[in-house]
Amino acid sequence: MFFGARGHRDGVFFLTGASVLCIISTLYLGLSFSGLRITNPNIHISETGISSMGIATKSSDESVLDAIPETILIAHAPGWTLFQNLYMSNGTLYIVASESRQAEIPPIRMMTSTGIEADTTPENIAMREPTPQEMQIITPQLARLKWGSSVEDGELNRIWTVEGITLLVNEPRQFLAHYYHFVAELLFGAWSFLYGAFNPYSQLSHTPSMISANNSSSLANQAQQEYNPPSFSRFIFMHASSEGWRDSPGFNSYFVRAAFPSLSIEESDDWADRVAATSDKAMGPRSKDRAWHFPVVLLSDRSAAFRGEACGQRTHRIAAESWEAMVDSAGIDLSGRWWDSVRENILEFAGVAMHTRDGVGRVARISGAQSLLSKPEQITITYLVRQGERRRLIQEDHDGLVQALKEMVERKKAQDGQEWNLRIVEPETLSKDDQVDLASKTTILLGVHGNGLTHLVLMKPNRWSSVIEIFYPGGFAHDYEWTARALGMRHYTIWNDTYLTYPNEPAVVYPEGFQGTDIPVHGKAVAKLIEDRLEDTLL
Ligand SMILES: *[C@@H]1O[C@H](CO)[C@@H](O)[C@H](O)[C@H]1NC(C)=O
Ligand SMILES: *[C@@H]1O[C@H](CO)[C@@H](O)[C@H](O)[C@H]1NC(C)=O
Ligand SMILES: *[C@@H]1O[C@H](CO)[C@@H](O)[C@H](O)[C@H]1NC(C)=O
Ligand SMILES: *[C@@H]1O[C@H](CO)[C@@H](O)[C@H](O)[C@H]1NC(C)=O
Repeated sequence: MFFGARGHRDGVFFLTGASVLCIISTLYLGLSFSGLRITNPNIHISETGISSMGIATKSSDESVLDAIPETILIAHAPGWTLFQNLYMSNGTLYIVASESRQAEIPPIRMMTSTGIEADTTPENIAMREPTPQEMQIITPQLARLKWGSSVEDGELNRIWTVEGITLLVNEPRQFLAHYYHFVAELLFGAWSFLYGAFNPYSQLSHTPSMISANNSSSLANQAQQEYNPPSFSRFIFMHASSEGWRDSPGFNSYFVRAAFPSLSIEESDDWADRVAATSDKAMGPRSKDRAWHFPVVLLSDRSAAFRGEACGQRTHRIAAESWEAMVDSAGIDLSGRWWDSVRENILEFAGVAMHTRDGVGRVARISGAQSLLSKPEQITITYLVRQGERRRLIQEDHDGLVQALKEMVERKKAQDGQEWNLRIVEPETLSKDDQVDLASKTTILLGVHGNGLTHLVLMKPNRWSSVIEIFYPGGFAHDYEWTARALGMRHYTIWNDTYLTYPNEPAVVYPEGFQGTDIPVHGKAVAKLIEDRLEDTLL
């Protein structure tokens, strides 16, 4: 069990200053920042979450009520910034850093934005640029003036600590209320970042060139080095209301509650309460600011992620910034193992029988990491039918596909005695638990481009795990392709009778017909691809 949430976290996990410094410098390498100097290097993660040394809280250590600990950037990638000691007052996030450290902080626009809905007009792009209302960098002296104690008055700091690890989500409803974007972008990005940033075995104490990419003895060594990452205590949706992050089938809330049973969630009204609480001040001489203090907080910002190269130019996935930064620093590996604990919690919640995952340990930069995984005990081919939806196959082609799949399975049984399990389902007719169960057993997930393919995050990666996605010929989007790859699985794009796969995946195009009801597919070609994949005759 990975999460403190479900059971108890074993022991105390101690992150040393050295590894924090290495995470920072490694992540910053690609971004041409030098690392921030660590002023307070130790973070304890214990049963009760994180407590950082030297932090003034009203409750715990009377002797430090006078201190306002400086902000430390534990790790940063565009749109994903993990802070120790971030402050909020009147809706503004404050980084407290002495002048000598301020030049080393990444540009604010790479961390946050105004959090409004995005489109691609120049006006909208300009309106999403952050202002001093969203974030400021201030000196410890100024922080003391704003919120500090006044010894003469016998008064304490006007700072209240929000304990634990917070995910602060600075985006509106726009994409959040959608299963794919919520799980495969926000949760993916947040979990890969948290997992990678706190991974003490990330080889971050070596320079990246020393991480030998295809060295199988170091892979074997790394297999010993699994760890239980700390978990989130709360999510705060700064701009999303109760409906703002829930999708209509109800998968977002199911997923969050199953993965993080103890998580508390604050929505836009709660954030507004926190903002109001810092600005509802007495008038006159007693008028002074207050602040909230976040000991550990991951700030996620969609617009800032799109200002990065991996998201903005290559993949259009906010999680790609997080995932790539953590792969580069070896905080996570290419086998997709970083996601296992989230998946396992959900499968267990859904009542799916648990097996420990087969396969190898950590996988760094080798090509074909998946080829190191074990073969599945039972092959299940799942075709998600979308014929009742807006975007769908030509009906004859759907029928032809079903027939080709059935013929293949029967032939395999007659010829080789192999029992391939074929499931042809309309997912919305199944309960959530049954959808989770089916996804967890699926080896080959097949369907027309669409939200149902998000269930690939619940597949248990094995040697042949694959996602086969049918597009209108010439069309392509990265959603499931990138996500499958981030979990160490193969993805095939189908254009009627042709398939394409990484690193030869197509460019993103939405041709006429992409969203239509006349998507062609040659069933026999798809069946052949599946058979070749399962016979290991593909590269
Ligand atoms: C608080 O923020 C609002 C903008 O949201 C601003 O108009 C107001 O002046 C701020 N109050 C103080 C005391 O800074
Ligand atoms: C290991 O990777 C290097 C490049 O990183 C390559 O030149 C070499 O051929 C690879 N060796 C094996 C055994 O794959
Ligand atoms: C492979 O990794 C092991 C353990 O990390 C190391 O001792 C060895 O020198 C490496 N070999 C090569 C060829 O890089
Ligand atoms: C799809 O592929 C089949 C087999 O190659 C071909 O006969 C058919 O014309 C193709 N359909 C379209 C729309 O290209």
